[in-house]
Formats: sequence, C-alpha cells, structure tokens
Amino acid sequence: SVLLGGFDIGGTKCAAVLGRTSEDGGSVEIVEKRAFPTPATPGEAIGRFGDALSELLEKAAADGPLRAIGISCGGPLDSRSGLVLSPPNLPGWDRIDVVGPLHGRFGVPVALQNDANACALAEWKWGAGRGASNVIFLTFGTGMGAGLILNGRLYSGANDMAGEVGHMRLAPDGPVGYGKAGSFEGFCSGGGIARLARRMAEARLGEGGASALAEHPDRLEEITAQAVFEAAEAGDELAREAVGIVGRKLGQGLAVLVDVLNPERIVIGSIYARQRAVLEPLVREELEREALSPSLEACEVVPSGLGEHVGDAASLSVAMQALEDERS
Ligand code: BGC
Ligand code: NA
Repeated sequence: SVLLGGFDIGGTKCAAVLGRTSEDGGSVEIVEKRAFPTPATPGEAIGRFGDALSELLEKAAADGPLRAIGISCGGPLDSRSGLVLSPPNLPGWDRIDVVGPLHGRFGVPVALQNDANACALAEWKWGAGRGASNVIFLTFGTGMGAGLILNGRLYSGANDMAGEVGHMRLAPDGPVGYGKAGSFEGFCSGGGIARLARRMAEARLGEGGASALAEHPDRLEEITAQAVFEAAEAGDELAREAVGIVGRKLGQGLAVLVDVLNPERIVIGSIYARQRAVLEPLVREELEREALSPSLEACEVVPSGLGEHVGDAASLSVAMQALEDERS
C-alpha cells in the first residue's frame, strides 16, 4: 500500500491526516487523524502540521515510508506555484508558500489544491463520482465552492480560479456571501442560511407569534443554519420559508451549472448531505423549471458518498495527484 499525508487548512480548524491507498489508488483508508485549532500564523500552522504528521508516521512506521503530501485549502490559491493567496477566512495568509517548507522537511512530492477541487477529486476517485467523467462537486458548508472534473480531468482554468461558483449572483439582493449580496454562497452556505433567517426574523420582530426564531430580538445573532433546519422540521413558518428559499436558490445555482457544463453527476457535500430530505424536492422542482431538459436528463444530483470523511479523503487525493504528477 501507499502511505500518504494530508493537510486540511480551514478557517477555524486544521487537520493532519495519514492515509493509505492501494497501489493502483483504487481505494483509500484513513489511518489516523489529528485535528487542531488553526494557529494564529501560517508559519505556526505549517510547523504544527509537520509535527503532527511526524508523530502519526512514527506510530505507523511498519506501514512503510511516506510517499507524498497533499494540502487542501479554501481559495484563492495558486496550485502551480504552491501559494495560498489571502482567502477571506484565513487572515494573514497572503502569498504564503505552504508547499516549499513541507517538501523541505519531508522530502516527498507535495501539492496544494483548492478545497472544493480536492473534494471533487476524492469523490471522483473514491466516492459518489466514481465511473463518471464529468462530475461537479459542491461544498455547501461554511462556504460554497465547486470542483469541476470535466472530460475526465480536473478543470482549473486560466489561473487556477475555476469553480468559484459561490461568487455568482442569484438575486439583486439577499444575504451576503463572499462579500456579495444575493450570491450563491450568500444563500447556500452555513453562514448565509443563518444570515437569511436573521434578516427575515428581524423584519418580523413584533409581529408576535410569527416564529420561534424571532422571539428573542436580542438573540438573533445566535441563529445558526442548524437551528433553522431544526425549527423548519418542527413546523416553524419562518424557518420553513427560509429553507424553501435556500432549496430553490440551490436549484437555481445547479441549473446554471447543468446548462453550462452538462455534467453527468453533481455531488453535494455537508449541508445537502445532512438535509437532503427537505432540500431534494425543492431542488428538483427548480431544476425542472430552470435547466434545459436534455442536460437535466443526463444529470444525477447526489449527496457526497464520502460523507463526513470527504475533507480527509480530499487532502489525500491531492497527495495521490502529487505522486502521479511526479511519475508522469
Ligand atoms: C472559497 C472557495 C472555497 C469555498 C469552500 C469559498 O468561499 O472562495 O475557494 O472552495 O469557499 O471552502
Ligand atoms: Na474550486
């Protein structure tokens, strides 16, 4: 088997993952993982990851030498130069070389990839995208990003910025995501859903009995996406309305992708995977209204096959890519 290291860099949490794939890369297994809060500086984060990986490697010594490291991080970044280019959720990470120091320390191929692209690679190799040559992965978690597998390979665009679908505007006004009101990320992300429900609750304060979410005017900030879905399930009108908007916006965003890219499969992570029962019918209805029917007939919309492990597998898929690039 092939031993691979993965570094998942997030706004609040980071993780060091040690994984193993079969020689042909057809399957993956997570050996062990260490999560830690994202340190204050990139230097500390890289050092902390290196230490964690060394520790995991010592424990797994019998499994053979480390062969490659993959790094997965929110964009913008440049996978070709290995630089992270100031993602909004990582203050202080401005033109940071993450690849160089790790290559220096571990002496194996190291590659950096946008988190959504990395998830797309993982789902394509090992999850719900298997066997298809045109697969779109949507994160739909803290942020809304896409990874595009087109004609059997990752599509990265002119300067590695392809797939920033969260920035697409779906309405002239709406919750802010990605610094833009009414964007796809504004409606379809954890923070976006919470902001949408807060706006709606705020507008209805004082109407009395309208919604459990509007009962505490001083506690609107505490509304989370999770709370919105729970309230909707319990029959809360405002929450149901908010979920209805989110589901329809998700459908509209998907319709654009279906029309432009004609994918065989769209794989959606995180919130969709957890809330599929309520979101799927809304998405369907909107897709049927908005997308061209021949494209829609060819496209399946499915939840992430790797589920909660997609982030770990994502960094490992980047490591595998690094190894393949070195071989070719
Ligand atoms: C970033 C994308 C990222 C996505 C998911 C967006 O805000 O711009 O690069 O893929 O969040 O983390
Ligand atoms: Na992307």
